[in-house]
Amino acid sequence: MNSNNGITILKIGGSVITDKRSEDGLAWEEEIVRIAREISGFEGKLIIVHGAGSYGHPQAKRYALTEGFHAEGAVVTHNAVKALNRIVVGILNDEGVNAISVHPMCCTVAKNGRISDMYLGSIRLMLEKGLVPVLHGDVVMDEVKGVSIISGDQVIPYLATQLKASRIGVGSAADGVFDDKGVTIPVITSMNFDEIKAYIGGSAGTDVTGGMLGKVLEMLELGKTSSITSYIFNATVVGSVSSFLNGENIGTAIKDS
Ligand SMILES: Nc1ncnc2c1ncn2[C@@H]1O[C@H](COP(=O)(O)OP(=O)(O)OP(=O)(O)O)[C@@H](O)[C@H]1O
Ligand SMILES: [Mg+2]
Repeated sequence: MNSNNGITILKIGGSVITDKRSEDGLAWEEEIVRIAREISGFEGKLIIVHGAGSYGHPQAKRYALTEGFHAEGAVVTHNAVKALNRIVVGILNDEGVNAISVHPMCCTVAKNGRISDMYLGSIRLMLEKGLVPVLHGDVVMDEVKGVSIISGDQVIPYLATQLKASRIGVGSAADGVFDDKGVTIPVITSMNFDEIKAYIGGSAGTDVTGGMLGKVLEMLELGKTSSITSYIFNATVVGSVSSFLNGENIGTAIKDS
């Protein structure tokens, strides 16, 4: 049995809040305002994780951070995504959400590209007190590689498992995961993944963490280890974030079986 703490984790994809065709940080602030307003009525325990979009992927690519350590590259990439986080958290606060930045770089150690340890004590207390932690994809220190890029898509299953979350929504810029005809696949499990994985690609923009395929793989693994179902939905659609937060299951469901 999977006990849960009534925690909802919502990802706001970098493809929703930034222009991923840009080479250097272009945020869509009106979209962030719209999403913040959709979040503001939610009363449950909520963790937000946002993607890096053009505030991280192009910088990480420029410095080849997935290949190896680069001190300046780590600083530039971390500062870029921190700048986006400041915009997101500022707008959430303006719209009445008591949001607090939690930068993975400051509380996480990775081993060969995977999170091995993340300090969660402050996040647990924030949730108890009704504050909304806002994490993001980030550069983190890595015991083997020096630094590694930890996507928001990897942060989510880690938090979900450790904190026993009950609902996970992954908002991106497509109406779920498409098949070869562009039709949204309703459910992905380890049973049908092999036959559909050929249709799942990277990203239309720059994405150093695997785009849609990376996302599906993370959520499938979470389903296996925790029996939590995740929903990949289109957060660019007005009302979609509030629909998800209101308990509607939208987009593609990803679960173990
Ligand atoms: N089968 C598919 N179905 C839907 N989208 C797909 C598929 N294959 C590839 N994609 C691409 O994956 C993109 C979503 O992944 P991407 O990592 O770019 O977004 P994101 O997670 O919102 O951004 P970030 O990583 O910055 O948070 C879609 O916009 C689309 O271009
Ligand atoms: Mg991505």
